[in-house]
Amino acid sequence: MKTVLNFACGYFKFSTNCTILGIETSCDDTGCAIVNEQGEILSEITVSQNLIHLRNGGIIPDIAQDLHRRNIELVVQKTLSQAKLCVKDLSAIAVTVKPGLPLSLPVGVKYAKYLARYYEKPLIPIHHMQAHALVPRIQNQIDFPFLVLLISGAHCLIAVAKDVDDFLLLGESMDSAPGELFDKVSRRMKLRNIPEYSQCCGGKAIELAAAKATNPQIFQLPLPLAEYKDCNFSFDGLKTSAIYKLLQKEKEHNIVVEVYLCGSLLSSWKNMCPLLNLKIIKTSFCLRWYATAVEARSESMYKRFSDIPGPKHYPVIGTLYKYLPFIGEYNAETLDKNARLNWIRYGPLVREELMPGVALLHVYAPDDMETLFRQEGRLPERRSHTAMLDYRLSKPDVYNSGGLLATNGPDWWRLRSAFQKNFTSPQSVKNHVTTTDGVVRDFIRWIKTERSSDSDDFLPYLNRLFLEVIGLIAFGEKFNSFSVEEQAQHSRSSKTILAAFQSNSGIMKLDKGIMWRFIRSPLYRKLAYSQDYLEKVSKEILLKKMHFFEKDSGAEPLCLLESFLNQPNVDMKDINGMMVDILMAAIDTTSYSTSFALYHLARHSDIQRRLFEEAKNLLPDHEGSISSEVLSKAYYTRSCIRESLRLNPVSIGIGRVLQNDIILSEYLIPKGTVVVTQNMTSCRLPQYARDPLHFRPERWQRDSHQHEVLHPFLSLPFGFGPRSCIARRLAEQNICITILRLVRQFELRWDGGELDVRTFLINKPNRPDSKRVFNADEIALNTRFGSCPSTGRVLAAKGDKNIYAVEQGNSKENACGLCPFDENAIDYYKCLDGPRSVEETDRQTADNDENKVMSIKIAVCLSALCMVVHSAPEPVPRRTLPALQHEEVHDELGQYALRYVTAEGSVVSERGWLVPSLVDGGHVLAYEGQYTFRGDDGETYVTKYRADPTGFHVDANHVPKASAR
Ligand code: HEM
Repeated sequence: MKTVLNFACGYFKFSTNCTILGIETSCDDTGCAIVNEQGEILSEITVSQNLIHLRNGGIIPDIAQDLHRRNIELVVQKTLSQAKLCVKDLSAIAVTVKPGLPLSLPVGVKYAKYLARYYEKPLIPIHHMQAHALVPRIQNQIDFPFLVLLISGAHCLIAVAKDVDDFLLLGESMDSAPGELFDKVSRRMKLRNIPEYSQCCGGKAIELAAAKATNPQIFQLPLPLAEYKDCNFSFDGLKTSAIYKLLQKEKEHNIVVEVYLCGSLLSSWKNMCPLLNLKIIKTSFCLRWYATAVEARSESMYKRFSDIPGPKHYPVIGTLYKYLPFIGEYNAETLDKNARLNWIRYGPLVREELMPGVALLHVYAPDDMETLFRQEGRLPERRSHTAMLDYRLSKPDVYNSGGLLATNGPDWWRLRSAFQKNFTSPQSVKNHVTTTDGVVRDFIRWIKTERSSDSDDFLPYLNRLFLEVIGLIAFGEKFNSFSVEEQAQHSRSSKTILAAFQSNSGIMKLDKGIMWRFIRSPLYRKLAYSQDYLEKVSKEILLKKMHFFEKDSGAEPLCLLESFLNQPNVDMKDINGMMVDILMAAIDTTSYSTSFALYHLARHSDIQRRLFEEAKNLLPDHEGSISSEVLSKAYYTRSCIRESLRLNPVSIGIGRVLQNDIILSEYLIPKGTVVVTQNMTSCRLPQYARDPLHFRPERWQRDSHQHEVLHPFLSLPFGFGPRSCIARRLAEQNICITILRLVRQFELRWDGGELDVRTFLINKPNRPDSKRVFNADEIALNTRFGSCPSTGRVLAAKGDKNIYAVEQGNSKENACGLCPFDENAIDYYKCLDGPRSVEETDRQTADNDENKVMSIKIAVCLSALCMVVHSAPEPVPRRTLPALQHEEVHDELGQYALRYVTAEGSVVSERGWLVPSLVDGGHVLAYEGQYTFRGDDGETYVTKYRADPTGFHVDANHVPKASAR
């Protein structure tokens, strides 16, 4: 009670004759006191509910509320009469408003409000913990700032008190509070059954019992967070191991052991709170104190958030102008490039005022990422999916909340804790191995026998594959998405895949804007439409399956939906929301990740070979089944996936909204800041990884000489902490099975150049678009489209190397290559050879035992073909395939040099390097190159070109020169 008043007096320190009445009902005591401006307590009355709650084994909130209601008026009246004052003599009324029991707090608050209104007195809201922090000032002269450690029944924290109402929270308990620990352990010891302790709360009973300990050394208990030198606490581990030790001892001796255990507990926990001085916690508190002292000492030296470098922002539009098409230097679909540019310009911490009131902090240093994630509380928040949240909340008949992806706070935890077990428990994930394997086997069969040659883009097939996988695992539903009917544009499968993509790609753009809050923009409507479609699909399945489950439950491993339906604390609307989230989160993420992994494998035949060896060992008969045991031995496959996710994670980084002030690289980052860790960019920096741009799975293998100890927070493809990907295990398992099977049965090849990403919330393999086709340099080089000699279909623009040749063992299928060609569109590479027989293919495989392995050049991302197919020129005569030399090097800044030579003698060389920008003091990439080819007249023509901040310049011996005026 004194704390409330002391705190309140801070507000009135300049007034004379200040007398404040304080009310406190945050827990189980109804308290009231009056204090004057000298800090003297004129009167104090507390009515404790302790004995009543002891009978119940803990505080029952509605009983506590009822008792407060009964006592509050009496307590206040007694306090006033003890001080010989009446309400009108008071200067103000103070009351605890938070934190506390949700049913108890309002009793005091309501009564204080009533007094304040009725007697026209100021009302001072008091933060319970801040008030505790100021208690030492009642009896001692303590100047601000000072450090304070608060340990109560419900809280444990360390803070810097800077002023009466200005606190910097340095750390707090990440799980339960010490009081909870004492209550639970003493309850488990059944101390209340012993008359001596029957009237004591948990902590006191343990203290009394401990005094009788004769051999306190018999128990060992862990030091919470001993290895971390930060300011957070954790007590759950201690609680669990104390209870476990109790159970163990009871079992061993079949005796009641409270005396011994209490002794040990007490001596171990000597410093856990000032009252008990428990030993183990002393050690851990010392660590915390050390870290705190270090932090607090330098607190005054922290740099200000506003001093962090970053792009210029303006009122109203923030930095949004930088994302505008044509004029902005950032591209909303290449966030990784923007991040890289920012890193080059501003360093490892970049502040971006995206729009007024939304400060973004881009974090590149893994140490800072670690600090960020380690301080995360129980309810980490993301600022994303805002439009989707808005949409779902506008449909209360369909959703209870924004769903797991979009919701924050306690509602998120309610959903997460309900659904989590079904996704994350190792056993439930293992149960789905056979299902996934079955689907992947069907897929491979389909590739071999059915796949049409109409499209060479492999990515849509991966989309369909993972729709099938998640359909069965999550909903027990076959989409049959490879059937002819389901491949049609308006089928359920095609529309589901499209709706999931449209939902994801709309979200990021809408998150950046605010206009949709006022006008339902086309993008918002597109999101709403796609959400609506996913809702429809999930509702249909839900209705169908509910009937089905009644008959079949217990037969097969439960699909996720079946387990959801068995959850007690979620209803149909929650389940429906979760199903839509699964459709959105599962298809694109898994297919893009698999696509990139296949791309890297296809480009590195040595690695693919090693992986093939592993696949062959694990699956001697390629028709054999994959079991969880097989997967547990697929070490190299897992390293390949990890390495691919390092280079090409589906998300550029992880977003969080800070819930406390934190220190990153000496800057004080305020609570509420939106932080984005730039893992994708950092993973590609030489500061943090050796040869960062090289695909090298061995860096993850402990037994390899190329093994590298990477910072544990550098690559976080699935996020970190309680908010990390709920389906991580499942997704990794599905990718692992797919890659093992594909590599076991096919040879992957890549004939193109580097595959890049486009960011649609999820990083998708990029593909050429019209901008690419009409690049100035390409026009200067007479670039046009090329077509496949055998099919006559247009392939892509010259210079587009992101093309895979595709071939099947099936004689109907053929492969297409790509090449540069001249103005008449005749100089290009022909299709690779004609259809291959199985024998031919076998000859290509080095392993004679593996004569059934088919050589397939898988199109990981041939979307270019789909894009330009409409402008196909007439088929042209077939030519022989020329050889092609191609060398390319890049550095970590994006500077590069490349050279390639065609069989016809054309040579292209180009280099790109960073030069200072003339506009904003940053850097831009300039490039220059030369293109040499032999003309039909036998002459060699040379075109030199250069693009830099002064413009684009071409010089060629065959291009007419403009006459000088
Ligand atoms: C390779 C595949 C996948 C990757 C790389 C991936 C990655 C991620 C990442 C980075 C996050 C955010 C984590 C954070 O904020 O710390 C996330 C969240 C999430 N993912 Fe995944 N994911 C994948 C597959 C899946 C699948 C298959 C599902 C569903 C079956 C799924 C469901 C979710 C959900 C529901 C969340 C939100 C979790 C929450 O906020 O509590 N993901 N995922």
